[in-house]
Amino acid sequence: LRDRVRFLRRGTVVEVEGFEPRTLLLDHLRLAERSTGTKEGCAEGDCGACTVALGRLRDGRLVYEPVNACILLLGQADGADVVTVEDLATGGALHPVQTAMIDHHGSQCGFCTPGIVMSLWTLHEERSGPVTRDQAVDALAGNLCRCTGYRPIVDAALAASGAEPDGPSPGRERTADALAALADGQDLFMGDDDSFFAAPASLDSLAALCERNPEATLVAGATDVGLWITKGFADLPKIVWLGRVRGLDRLEAGADGLRIGATVSHVRAHAALSSLDPDLGEIMRRFGSAQVRASGTVGGNLANGSPIGDLAPAFIALGATIHLRKGGRERSLPLEDFFIAYRKQDREPGEFVTSVHVPRLRDGEHLRLFKVTKRFDEDISAVMGAFRLTLDGERVTQACIAYGGMAATPKRAALTEHALIGADLADPGTWEPALAALARDFTPLDDMRASAAYRALVARNLLLKALVELGSGDTASTRLVGHREGMPA
Ligand SMILES: Cc1cc2nc3c(=O)[nH]c(=O)nc-3n(C[C@H](O)[C@H](O)[C@H](O)COP(=O)(O)OP(=O)(O)OC[C@H]3O[C@@H](n4cnc5c(N)ncnc54)[C@H](O)[C@@H]3O)c2cc1C
Ligand code: FES
Ligand code: FES
Repeated sequence: LRDRVRFLRRGTVVEVEGFEPRTLLLDHLRLAERSTGTKEGCAEGDCGACTVALGRLRDGRLVYEPVNACILLLGQADGADVVTVEDLATGGALHPVQTAMIDHHGSQCGFCTPGIVMSLWTLHEERSGPVTRDQAVDALAGNLCRCTGYRPIVDAALAASGAEPDGPSPGRERTADALAALADGQDLFMGDDDSFFAAPASLDSLAALCERNPEATLVAGATDVGLWITKGFADLPKIVWLGRVRGLDRLEAGADGLRIGATVSHVRAHAALSSLDPDLGEIMRRFGSAQVRASGTVGGNLANGSPIGDLAPAFIALGATIHLRKGGRERSLPLEDFFIAYRKQDREPGEFVTSVHVPRLRDGEHLRLFKVTKRFDEDISAVMGAFRLTLDGERVTQACIAYGGMAATPKRAALTEHALIGADLADPGTWEPALAALARDFTPLDDMRASAAYRALVARNLLLKALVELGSGDTASTRLVGHREGMPA
Protein backbone atom coordinates (compact mmCIF):
# COMPACT_ATOMS: atom_id res chain seq x y z
CA LEU A 1 0.00 0.00 0.00
CA ARG A 2 1.32 3.44 -0.95
CA ASP A 3 0.32 6.52 1.05
CA ARG A 4 1.46 9.34 -1.22
CA VAL A 5 0.96 10.53 -4.76
CA ARG A 6 3.96 10.39 -7.10
CA PHE A 7 4.51 11.99 -10.45
CA LEU A 8 7.31 13.33 -12.62
CA ARG A 9 8.23 17.02 -12.89
CA ARG A 10 11.12 17.99 -15.12
CA GLY A 11 12.65 14.53 -14.88
CA THR A 12 12.41 14.32 -11.08
CA VAL A 13 9.98 12.22 -9.06
CA VAL A 14 7.77 14.43 -6.87
CA GLU A 15 5.95 12.93 -3.89
CA VAL A 16 2.99 14.71 -2.32
CA GLU A 17 1.05 13.65 0.73
CA GLY A 18 -1.27 15.06 3.33
CA PHE A 19 -3.27 17.23 0.91
CA GLU A 20 -7.03 17.65 0.97
CA PRO A 21 -8.49 14.91 -1.29
CA ARG A 22 -10.31 17.44 -3.49
CA THR A 23 -7.16 19.53 -4.18
CA LEU A 24 -6.93 20.46 -7.84
CA LEU A 25 -3.77 20.12 -9.91
CA LEU A 26 -3.97 23.80 -10.90
CA ASP A 27 -3.98 24.92 -7.26
CA HIS A 28 -1.03 22.68 -6.50
CA LEU A 29 0.94 24.09 -9.45
CA ARG A 30 0.13 27.73 -8.76
CA LEU A 31 -0.08 27.86 -4.96
CA ALA A 32 2.29 25.13 -3.74
CA GLU A 33 4.81 24.81 -6.56
CA ARG A 34 4.47 28.50 -7.54
CA SER A 35 4.45 27.62 -11.24
CA THR A 36 2.18 30.53 -12.04
CA GLY A 37 2.60 30.34 -15.82
CA THR A 38 -0.50 28.14 -15.92
CA LYS A 39 -3.55 30.41 -15.58
CA GLU A 40 -7.03 30.08 -14.14
CA GLY A 41 -9.79 31.56 -16.29
CA CYS A 42 -13.19 29.91 -16.07
CA ALA A 43 -12.38 27.10 -13.59
CA GLU A 44 -14.84 24.84 -15.41
CA GLY A 45 -12.95 23.30 -18.31
CA ASP A 46 -14.19 25.71 -20.96
CA CYS A 47 -11.45 28.26 -21.65
CA GLY A 48 -8.23 26.23 -21.69
CA ALA A 49 -6.11 28.84 -19.88
CA CYS A 50 -5.13 26.13 -17.38
CA THR A 51 -4.02 23.58 -19.99
CA VAL A 52 -1.05 21.43 -19.01
CA ALA A 53 0.13 18.18 -20.57
CA LEU A 54 0.20 14.78 -18.91
CA GLY A 55 2.50 12.10 -20.29
CA ARG A 56 1.60 8.48 -19.65
CA LEU A 57 2.69 5.11 -20.97
CA ARG A 58 0.09 3.55 -23.21
CA ASP A 59 0.94 0.04 -24.39
CA GLY A 60 4.54 0.86 -23.54
CA ARG A 61 4.58 4.07 -25.59
CA LEU A 62 4.82 7.53 -24.04
CA VAL A 63 1.81 9.65 -25.00
CA TYR A 64 1.25 13.29 -24.03
CA GLU A 65 -2.28 14.66 -23.78
CA PRO A 66 -3.57 18.13 -22.90
CA VAL A 67 -5.77 18.39 -19.79
CA ASN A 68 -7.60 21.15 -17.95
CA ALA A 69 -5.68 21.45 -14.66
CA CYS A 70 -8.53 23.53 -13.16
CA ILE A 71 -10.85 20.51 -12.95
CA LEU A 72 -8.27 17.75 -12.58
CA LEU A 73 -7.54 16.47 -9.08
CA LEU A 74 -3.94 16.59 -7.92
CA GLY A 75 -4.19 12.87 -7.16
CA GLN A 76 -5.04 12.16 -10.79
CA ALA A 77 -1.50 13.20 -11.73
CA ASP A 78 -0.26 10.02 -10.04
CA GLY A 79 2.04 8.10 -12.34
CA ALA A 80 2.21 10.84 -15.00
CA ASP A 81 4.82 13.23 -16.36
CA VAL A 82 3.38 16.70 -15.66
CA VAL A 83 4.49 19.31 -18.20
CA THR A 84 3.68 23.00 -17.81
CA VAL A 85 4.44 26.04 -19.94
CA GLU A 86 7.53 26.74 -17.81
CA ASP A 87 9.09 23.48 -19.02
CA LEU A 88 9.13 23.97 -22.77
CA ALA A 89 12.16 26.19 -23.36
CA THR A 90 15.50 24.42 -23.14
CA GLY A 91 18.75 26.18 -22.34
CA GLY A 92 17.15 29.58 -22.90
CA ALA A 93 15.87 28.61 -26.39
CA LEU A 94 12.13 28.75 -26.86
CA HIS A 95 10.27 25.70 -28.15
CA PRO A 96 9.27 25.96 -31.86
CA VAL A 97 5.58 26.48 -30.94
CA GLN A 98 6.53 29.40 -28.69
CA THR A 99 8.69 30.95 -31.41
CA ALA A 100 5.91 30.48 -33.96
CA MET A 101 3.39 32.19 -31.63
CA ILE A 102 5.72 35.22 -31.46
CA ASP A 103 6.51 35.22 -35.19
CA HIS A 104 2.83 35.04 -36.14
CA HIS A 105 1.63 37.54 -33.54
CA GLY A 106 -0.47 34.89 -31.77
CA SER A 107 -0.67 36.71 -28.45
CA GLN A 108 -2.01 40.06 -27.27
CA CYS A 109 -3.05 40.28 -23.60
CA GLY A 110 -1.46 36.86 -23.22
CA PHE A 111 -3.79 35.40 -20.62
CA CYS A 112 -4.83 32.56 -22.91
CA THR A 113 -1.32 32.09 -24.32
CA PRO A 114 0.17 29.55 -21.89
CA GLY A 115 -2.83 27.25 -22.41
CA ILE A 116 -2.69 27.68 -26.16
CA VAL A 117 1.03 26.98 -26.20
CA MET A 118 0.43 23.78 -24.21
CA SER A 119 -2.30 22.61 -26.59
CA LEU A 120 0.00 23.28 -29.53
CA TRP A 121 2.91 21.60 -27.76
CA THR A 122 0.99 18.33 -27.32
CA LEU A 123 -0.14 18.53 -30.94
CA HIS A 124 3.50 19.06 -31.93
CA GLU A 125 4.75 16.19 -29.75
CA GLU A 126 2.15 13.68 -30.89
CA ARG A 127 1.89 14.54 -34.59
CA SER A 128 2.66 11.78 -37.06
CA GLY A 129 3.30 14.12 -40.00
CA PRO A 130 2.78 17.76 -40.92
CA VAL A 131 -0.13 19.25 -38.96
CA THR A 132 -3.20 20.03 -41.08
CA ARG A 133 -5.46 23.04 -40.54
CA ASP A 134 -8.30 20.75 -39.37
CA GLN A 135 -6.00 19.12 -36.81
CA ALA A 136 -4.85 22.52 -35.55
CA VAL A 137 -8.43 23.76 -35.23
CA ASP A 138 -9.52 20.58 -33.40
CA ALA A 139 -6.53 20.88 -31.06
CA LEU A 140 -7.47 24.48 -30.26
CA ALA A 141 -11.23 23.96 -29.80
CA GLY A 142 -10.80 23.95 -26.01
CA ASN A 143 -8.81 27.20 -25.89
CA LEU A 144 -10.63 30.50 -25.91
CA CYS A 145 -8.85 33.66 -26.96
CA ARG A 146 -10.74 36.90 -26.85
CA CYS A 147 -8.23 39.46 -28.12
CA THR A 148 -5.84 37.94 -30.65
CA GLY A 149 -8.30 36.06 -32.83
CA TYR A 150 -7.68 32.54 -33.99
CA ARG A 151 -6.19 33.08 -37.46
CA PRO A 152 -2.68 34.02 -36.25
CA ILE A 153 -2.78 31.23 -33.67
CA VAL A 154 -3.71 28.63 -36.29
CA ASP A 155 -0.96 30.06 -38.53
CA ALA A 156 1.49 29.57 -35.66
CA ALA A 157 0.31 25.97 -35.21
CA LEU A 158 0.89 25.22 -38.88
CA ALA A 159 4.24 27.00 -38.99
CA ALA A 160 5.51 25.09 -35.94
CA SER A 161 4.44 21.75 -37.28
CA GLY A 162 7.49 21.31 -39.52
CA ALA A 163 7.64 18.70 -42.22
CA GLU A 164 8.36 15.57 -40.25
CA PRO A 165 8.12 14.64 -36.58
CA ASP A 166 11.39 14.61 -34.68
CA GLY A 167 11.06 10.93 -33.70
CA PRO A 168 11.81 9.56 -30.23
CA SER A 169 14.29 11.79 -28.45
CA PRO A 170 16.63 10.58 -25.69
CA GLY A 171 14.58 12.79 -23.32
CA ARG A 172 11.39 10.90 -24.18
CA GLU A 173 13.08 7.56 -23.66
CA ARG A 174 14.33 8.63 -20.23
CA THR A 175 10.86 9.84 -19.32
CA ALA A 176 9.29 6.58 -20.49
CA ASP A 177 11.74 4.62 -18.31
CA ALA A 178 11.03 6.86 -15.32
CA LEU A 179 7.27 6.41 -15.74
CA ALA A 180 7.67 2.65 -16.04
CA ALA A 181 9.57 2.72 -12.72
CA LEU A 182 6.69 4.66 -11.10
CA ALA A 183 4.11 2.04 -12.11
CA ASP A 184 4.28 0.00 -8.91
CA GLY A 185 0.83 -1.62 -9.26
CA GLN A 186 0.14 -0.99 -5.57
CA ASP A 187 -3.07 0.39 -4.11
CA LEU A 188 -2.77 4.06 -3.17
CA PHE A 189 -4.50 5.26 -0.01
CA MET A 190 -3.71 8.66 1.42
CA GLY A 191 -5.62 9.79 4.51
CA ASP A 192 -7.75 8.04 7.14
CA ASP A 193 -11.24 6.54 7.52
CA ASP A 194 -12.89 9.99 7.55
CA SER A 195 -11.07 11.66 4.70
CA PHE A 196 -9.00 10.07 1.97
CA PHE A 197 -7.81 10.06 -1.61
CA ALA A 198 -7.64 6.44 -2.77
CA ALA A 199 -6.58 4.99 -6.09
CA PRO A 200 -6.93 1.22 -6.02
CA ALA A 201 -4.88 -0.75 -8.52
CA SER A 202 -7.18 -3.75 -9.02
CA LEU A 203 -10.89 -4.43 -9.50
CA ASP A 204 -11.02 -6.46 -6.30
CA SER A 205 -9.44 -3.65 -4.24
CA LEU A 206 -11.86 -1.17 -5.80
CA ALA A 207 -14.87 -3.38 -5.07
CA ALA A 208 -13.81 -3.86 -1.44
CA LEU A 209 -13.11 -0.14 -0.94
CA CYS A 210 -16.50 0.83 -2.43
CA GLU A 211 -18.32 -1.68 -0.23
CA ARG A 212 -16.63 -0.25 2.88
CA ASN A 213 -17.26 3.35 1.77
CA PRO A 214 -20.49 3.40 -0.25
CA GLU A 215 -20.76 7.17 0.27
CA ALA A 216 -17.32 7.90 -1.24
CA THR A 217 -17.19 9.90 -4.48
CA LEU A 218 -16.02 7.88 -7.45
CA VAL A 219 -13.89 9.90 -9.84
CA ALA A 220 -12.86 8.81 -13.31
CA GLY A 221 -11.79 11.83 -15.41
CA ALA A 222 -13.34 14.47 -13.08
CA THR A 223 -14.66 16.51 -16.01
CA ASP A 224 -18.00 16.49 -14.19
CA VAL A 225 -16.83 16.04 -10.58
CA GLY A 226 -14.23 18.80 -10.93
CA LEU A 227 -17.03 21.32 -11.43
CA TRP A 228 -18.79 20.15 -8.27
CA ILE A 229 -15.63 21.38 -6.52
CA THR A 230 -14.93 24.61 -8.42
CA LYS A 231 -18.55 25.73 -8.94
CA GLY A 232 -20.51 23.83 -6.28
CA PHE A 233 -17.81 24.14 -3.57
CA ALA A 234 -18.45 20.50 -2.67
CA ASP A 235 -16.33 19.15 0.14
CA LEU A 236 -15.89 15.54 -1.09
CA PRO A 237 -13.92 14.17 1.86
CA LYS A 238 -13.66 10.63 0.45
CA ILE A 239 -12.48 10.24 -3.11
CA VAL A 240 -11.87 7.01 -4.98
CA TRP A 241 -10.07 7.60 -8.27
CA LEU A 242 -10.60 4.83 -10.82
CA GLY A 243 -7.71 5.79 -13.12
CA ARG A 244 -5.26 3.17 -11.82
CA VAL A 245 -7.60 0.15 -11.73
CA ARG A 246 -6.14 -2.56 -13.98
CA GLY A 247 -8.59 -3.87 -16.55
CA LEU A 248 -11.13 -1.07 -16.15
CA ASP A 249 -9.52 0.71 -19.12
CA ARG A 250 -9.75 -2.26 -21.49
CA LEU A 251 -11.15 -1.61 -24.95
CA GLU A 252 -12.01 -4.74 -26.92
CA ALA A 253 -13.33 -4.90 -30.46
CA GLY A 254 -15.07 -8.18 -31.30
CA ALA A 255 -17.25 -9.44 -34.11
CA ASP A 256 -20.36 -8.58 -32.08
CA GLY A 257 -19.30 -5.06 -31.10
CA LEU A 258 -17.15 -3.05 -28.72
CA ARG A 259 -16.65 -3.69 -25.05
CA ILE A 260 -15.52 -0.38 -23.59
CA GLY A 261 -14.10 -0.39 -20.07
CA ALA A 262 -15.51 2.32 -17.79
CA THR A 263 -12.27 4.31 -17.63
CA VAL A 264 -11.56 4.32 -21.36
CA SER A 265 -11.18 7.99 -22.18
CA HIS A 266 -13.09 9.62 -25.00
CA VAL A 267 -9.91 10.14 -26.97
CA ARG A 268 -9.19 6.40 -26.84
CA ALA A 269 -12.79 5.43 -27.61
CA HIS A 270 -12.91 7.80 -30.59
CA ALA A 271 -11.22 5.61 -33.23
CA ALA A 272 -13.03 2.44 -32.15
CA LEU A 273 -16.42 4.15 -32.21
CA SER A 274 -15.64 5.72 -35.61
CA SER A 275 -15.11 2.20 -36.94
CA LEU A 276 -18.68 1.28 -35.93
CA ASP A 277 -20.18 4.22 -37.79
CA PRO A 278 -18.89 7.59 -39.08
CA ASP A 279 -21.60 9.46 -37.16
CA LEU A 280 -20.26 8.03 -33.89
CA GLY A 281 -16.83 9.33 -34.85
CA GLU A 282 -18.24 12.77 -35.58
CA ILE A 283 -20.03 12.87 -32.20
CA MET A 284 -16.72 12.05 -30.50
CA ARG A 285 -14.86 14.72 -32.48
CA ARG A 286 -17.34 17.29 -31.19
CA PHE A 287 -17.35 15.92 -27.64
CA GLY A 288 -16.05 18.75 -25.43
CA SER A 289 -12.49 19.60 -26.45
CA ALA A 290 -9.19 17.76 -26.77
CA GLN A 291 -8.66 18.44 -23.05
CA VAL A 292 -12.09 17.10 -22.04
CA ARG A 293 -11.73 14.05 -24.31
CA ALA A 294 -8.33 13.24 -22.80
CA SER A 295 -9.63 13.22 -19.22
CA GLY A 296 -13.34 12.36 -19.56
CA THR A 297 -14.33 8.71 -19.74
CA VAL A 298 -17.09 6.66 -21.32
CA GLY A 299 -18.09 5.24 -17.91
CA GLY A 300 -18.19 8.71 -16.35
CA ASN A 301 -20.44 10.01 -19.11
CA LEU A 302 -22.95 7.18 -18.59
CA ALA A 303 -22.75 7.01 -14.79
CA ASN A 304 -23.23 10.76 -14.49
CA GLY A 305 -26.74 10.26 -15.89
CA SER A 306 -27.03 13.69 -17.45
CA PRO A 307 -30.12 14.05 -19.67
CA ILE A 308 -27.91 15.92 -22.17
CA GLY A 309 -24.88 13.60 -22.16
CA ASP A 310 -23.93 12.54 -25.67
CA LEU A 311 -23.10 8.87 -25.38
CA ALA A 312 -26.27 7.61 -23.70
CA PRO A 313 -28.73 8.35 -26.56
CA ALA A 314 -26.26 7.04 -29.15
CA PHE A 315 -25.55 3.84 -27.23
CA ILE A 316 -29.23 3.29 -26.33
CA ALA A 317 -30.16 3.52 -30.01
CA LEU A 318 -27.50 0.92 -30.73
CA GLY A 319 -28.93 -1.42 -28.06
CA ALA A 320 -25.98 -1.22 -25.63
CA THR A 321 -25.66 -3.16 -22.37
CA ILE A 322 -24.10 -1.71 -19.23
CA HIS A 323 -22.13 -3.87 -16.79
CA LEU A 324 -21.88 -3.13 -13.06
CA ARG A 325 -20.16 -4.63 -10.05
CA LYS A 326 -20.73 -4.43 -6.31
CA GLY A 327 -18.45 -6.47 -4.05
CA GLY A 328 -18.23 -9.86 -5.74
CA ARG A 329 -21.56 -9.50 -7.57
CA GLU A 330 -21.66 -8.49 -11.22
CA ARG A 331 -24.78 -7.67 -13.19
CA SER A 332 -25.74 -6.33 -16.60
CA LEU A 333 -28.75 -4.47 -17.89
CA PRO A 334 -29.86 -2.77 -21.08
CA LEU A 335 -28.43 0.74 -20.96
CA GLU A 336 -31.88 2.28 -21.46
CA ASP A 337 -33.04 0.73 -18.15
CA PHE A 338 -30.08 2.24 -16.27
CA PHE A 339 -31.59 5.74 -16.34
CA ILE A 340 -34.53 5.85 -13.92
CA ALA A 341 -35.29 9.52 -13.25
CA TYR A 342 -33.51 12.88 -13.35
CA ARG A 343 -29.92 12.09 -12.29
CA LYS A 344 -31.13 8.84 -10.71
CA GLN A 345 -29.57 5.72 -12.10
CA ASP A 346 -30.08 2.03 -11.32
CA ARG A 347 -26.87 1.90 -9.31
CA GLU A 348 -26.67 0.91 -5.64
CA PRO A 349 -24.36 2.64 -3.18
CA GLY A 350 -20.97 0.95 -3.47
CA GLU A 351 -21.73 -0.31 -6.96
CA PHE A 352 -19.70 0.85 -9.95
CA VAL A 353 -19.82 0.63 -13.74
CA THR A 354 -17.25 -1.76 -15.16
CA SER A 355 -17.94 -1.53 -18.90
CA VAL A 356 -20.46 -1.01 -21.66
CA HIS A 357 -21.03 -3.26 -24.63
CA VAL A 358 -21.99 -1.52 -27.86
CA PRO A 359 -23.20 -3.88 -30.62
CA ARG A 360 -22.25 -3.46 -34.26
CA LEU A 361 -24.90 -2.59 -36.80
CA ARG A 362 -26.35 -5.64 -38.54
CA ASP A 363 -27.18 -5.98 -42.24
CA GLY A 364 -29.99 -3.62 -43.18
CA GLU A 365 -29.48 -1.41 -40.11
CA HIS A 366 -28.56 2.25 -40.47
CA LEU A 367 -27.46 4.74 -37.83
CA ARG A 368 -27.91 8.49 -37.79
CA LEU A 369 -26.72 10.71 -34.91
CA PHE A 370 -27.30 14.43 -34.71
CA LYS A 371 -26.03 16.72 -31.97
CA VAL A 372 -27.53 20.21 -31.83
CA THR A 373 -25.60 22.82 -29.85
CA LYS A 374 -25.31 26.58 -29.74
CA ARG A 375 -21.62 26.44 -30.64
CA PHE A 376 -20.18 23.85 -33.01
CA ASP A 377 -17.21 22.98 -30.77
CA GLU A 378 -17.03 22.35 -27.06
CA ASP A 379 -20.69 22.66 -26.27
CA ILE A 380 -23.16 20.36 -24.57
CA SER A 381 -26.20 19.27 -26.56
CA ALA A 382 -29.49 21.11 -26.48
CA VAL A 383 -30.92 18.08 -28.26
CA MET A 384 -29.28 14.89 -29.39
CA GLY A 385 -31.16 12.56 -31.74
CA ALA A 386 -30.04 8.96 -32.28
CA PHE A 387 -31.76 6.77 -34.87
CA ARG A 388 -31.16 3.11 -35.73
CA LEU A 389 -33.49 2.11 -38.53
CA THR A 390 -33.76 -1.28 -40.18
CA LEU A 391 -34.70 -1.10 -43.82
CA ASP A 392 -36.07 -3.60 -46.26
CA GLY A 393 -35.51 -1.74 -49.49
CA GLU A 394 -37.22 1.60 -48.89
CA ARG A 395 -39.46 0.33 -46.13
CA VAL A 396 -38.72 0.78 -42.40
CA THR A 397 -39.13 -2.59 -40.71
CA GLN A 398 -37.74 -1.69 -37.28
CA ALA A 399 -36.79 1.48 -35.46
CA CYS A 400 -34.84 2.22 -32.30
CA ILE A 401 -34.80 5.94 -31.53
CA ALA A 402 -33.38 7.73 -28.50
CA TYR A 403 -33.10 11.39 -27.63
CA GLY A 404 -31.09 13.44 -25.19
CA GLY A 405 -32.37 16.80 -23.91
CA MET A 406 -36.00 15.81 -24.40
CA ALA A 407 -36.81 14.40 -20.96
CA ALA A 408 -35.32 14.11 -17.49
CA THR A 409 -33.25 11.17 -18.75
CA PRO A 410 -31.90 10.01 -22.09
CA LYS A 411 -35.00 8.25 -23.40
CA ARG A 412 -36.40 6.14 -26.22
CA ALA A 413 -39.22 7.45 -28.38
CA ALA A 414 -41.44 4.37 -28.13
CA LEU A 415 -44.55 5.76 -29.84
CA THR A 416 -42.48 7.23 -32.68
CA GLU A 417 -40.65 3.97 -33.21
CA HIS A 418 -43.96 2.10 -33.45
CA ALA A 419 -45.47 4.66 -35.83
CA LEU A 420 -42.44 4.51 -38.10
CA ILE A 421 -42.72 0.81 -38.87
CA GLY A 422 -43.95 0.36 -42.42
CA ALA A 423 -43.05 3.93 -43.43
CA ASP A 424 -41.79 4.26 -46.99
CA LEU A 425 -38.65 6.35 -47.41
CA ALA A 426 -39.72 7.22 -50.94
CA ASP A 427 -43.07 8.59 -49.74
CA PRO A 428 -42.76 11.40 -47.14
CA GLY A 429 -46.52 11.27 -46.57
CA THR A 430 -45.98 7.95 -44.74
CA TRP A 431 -43.62 9.66 -42.24
CA GLU A 432 -46.34 11.87 -40.80
CA PRO A 433 -47.69 9.46 -38.13
CA ALA A 434 -44.17 9.10 -36.69
CA LEU A 435 -43.50 12.83 -36.74
CA ALA A 436 -46.81 13.40 -34.96
CA ALA A 437 -46.13 10.64 -32.40
CA LEU A 438 -42.92 12.37 -31.34
CA ALA A 439 -44.92 15.14 -29.69
CA ARG A 440 -46.62 12.50 -27.51
CA ASP A 441 -43.37 10.75 -26.61
CA PHE A 442 -41.75 13.66 -24.79
CA THR A 443 -42.23 16.60 -22.48
CA PRO A 444 -38.95 18.35 -23.33
CA LEU A 445 -36.69 20.11 -20.86
CA ASP A 446 -37.14 23.86 -20.72
CA ASP A 447 -34.05 25.71 -19.55
CA MET A 448 -31.51 28.35 -20.50
CA ARG A 449 -29.89 26.03 -23.01
CA ALA A 450 -33.11 25.72 -25.04
CA SER A 451 -36.84 26.20 -24.59
CA ALA A 452 -39.23 23.25 -24.62
CA ALA A 453 -40.83 24.48 -27.86
CA TYR A 454 -37.44 24.77 -29.57
CA ARG A 455 -36.45 21.29 -28.44
CA ALA A 456 -39.73 19.77 -29.65
CA LEU A 457 -39.29 21.35 -33.08
CA VAL A 458 -35.62 20.38 -33.33
CA ALA A 459 -36.37 16.79 -32.34
CA ARG A 460 -38.99 16.57 -35.08
CA ASN A 461 -36.61 18.05 -37.64
CA LEU A 462 -33.83 15.64 -36.68
CA LEU A 463 -36.11 12.67 -37.35
CA LEU A 464 -37.06 14.29 -40.65
CA LYS A 465 -33.39 14.77 -41.46
CA ALA A 466 -32.59 11.12 -40.75
CA LEU A 467 -35.40 10.01 -43.05
CA VAL A 468 -34.38 12.46 -45.80
CA GLU A 469 -30.75 11.32 -45.64
CA LEU A 470 -31.63 7.64 -45.76
CA GLY A 471 -34.29 8.15 -48.41
CA SER A 472 -31.82 9.98 -50.65
CA GLY A 473 -29.11 7.35 -50.23
CA ASP A 474 -27.01 10.01 -48.49
CA THR A 475 -26.99 12.33 -51.46
CA ALA A 476 -29.28 15.00 -49.95
CA SER A 477 -27.41 18.04 -48.79
CA THR A 478 -28.43 17.88 -45.13
CA ARG A 479 -25.23 18.79 -43.28
CA LEU A 480 -23.31 22.03 -43.17
CA VAL A 481 -20.23 20.53 -41.56
CA GLY A 482 -18.92 17.13 -40.63
CA HIS A 483 -20.76 15.56 -43.55
CA ARG A 484 -21.22 11.83 -43.40
CA GLU A 485 -18.63 9.73 -45.13
CA GLY A 486 -19.61 9.18 -48.72
CA MET A 487 -21.83 12.25 -48.84
CA PRO A 488 -21.05 15.16 -51.13
CA ALA A 489 -19.12 17.87 -49.25
C1 LIG B 1 -15.86 21.88 -20.91
C2 LIG B 1 -16.68 20.63 -20.88
C3 LIG B 1 -17.26 20.16 -22.05
C4 LIG B 1 -18.04 19.00 -22.02
N1 LIG B 1 -18.59 18.56 -23.19
C5 LIG B 1 -19.39 17.47 -23.18
C6 LIG B 1 -19.97 17.01 -24.39
O1 LIG B 1 -19.75 17.54 -25.48
N2 LIG B 1 -20.80 15.94 -24.30
C7 LIG B 1 -21.07 15.30 -23.12
O2 LIG B 1 -21.82 14.33 -23.10
N3 LIG B 1 -20.49 15.71 -21.96
C8 LIG B 1 -19.66 16.76 -21.97
N4 LIG B 1 -19.08 17.18 -20.80
C9 LIG B 1 -19.36 16.48 -19.55
C10 LIG B 1 -18.27 15.44 -19.17
O3 LIG B 1 -17.07 15.72 -19.79
C11 LIG B 1 -18.66 14.02 -19.56
O4 LIG B 1 -19.86 13.66 -18.95
C12 LIG B 1 -17.57 12.99 -19.21
O5 LIG B 1 -17.75 11.84 -19.98
C13 LIG B 1 -17.57 12.61 -17.75
O6 LIG B 1 -16.59 11.62 -17.58
P1 LIG B 1 -15.54 11.71 -16.39
O7 LIG B 1 -14.72 10.48 -16.47
O8 LIG B 1 -14.83 12.98 -16.42
O9 LIG B 1 -16.54 11.65 -15.15
P2 LIG B 1 -16.36 12.10 -13.60
O10 LIG B 1 -16.44 13.56 -13.56
O11 LIG B 1 -15.09 11.47 -13.10
O12 LIG B 1 -17.59 11.39 -13.01
C14 LIG B 1 -18.91 11.72 -13.40
C15 LIG B 1 -19.92 10.97 -12.53
O13 LIG B 1 -19.87 9.58 -12.80
C16 LIG B 1 -19.49 8.87 -11.62
N5 LIG B 1 -18.62 7.79 -12.09
C17 LIG B 1 -17.53 7.93 -12.88
N6 LIG B 1 -17.07 6.71 -13.23
C18 LIG B 1 -17.89 5.80 -12.64
C19 LIG B 1 -17.94 4.38 -12.64
N7 LIG B 1 -17.07 3.62 -13.32
N8 LIG B 1 -18.92 3.77 -11.93
C20 LIG B 1 -19.84 4.52 -11.25
N9 LIG B 1 -19.84 5.85 -11.22
C21 LIG B 1 -18.87 6.49 -11.91
C22 LIG B 1 -18.87 9.86 -10.70
O14 LIG B 1 -19.00 9.49 -9.35
C23 LIG B 1 -19.69 11.10 -11.04
O15 LIG B 1 -20.93 11.01 -10.38
C24 LIG B 1 -18.26 18.32 -20.80
C25 LIG B 1 -17.65 18.78 -19.63
C26 LIG B 1 -16.87 19.91 -19.66
C27 LIG B 1 -16.22 20.39 -18.41
S1 FES C 1 -9.47 27.71 -16.23
FE1 FES C 1 -10.75 27.66 -17.96
S2 FES C 1 -10.49 25.62 -18.62
FE2 FES C 1 -9.43 25.67 -16.78
S1 FES D 1 -4.38 37.09 -26.17
FE1 FES D 1 -5.87 37.91 -24.86
S2 FES D 1 -7.26 36.30 -24.61
FE2 FES D 1 -5.90 35.55 -26.07
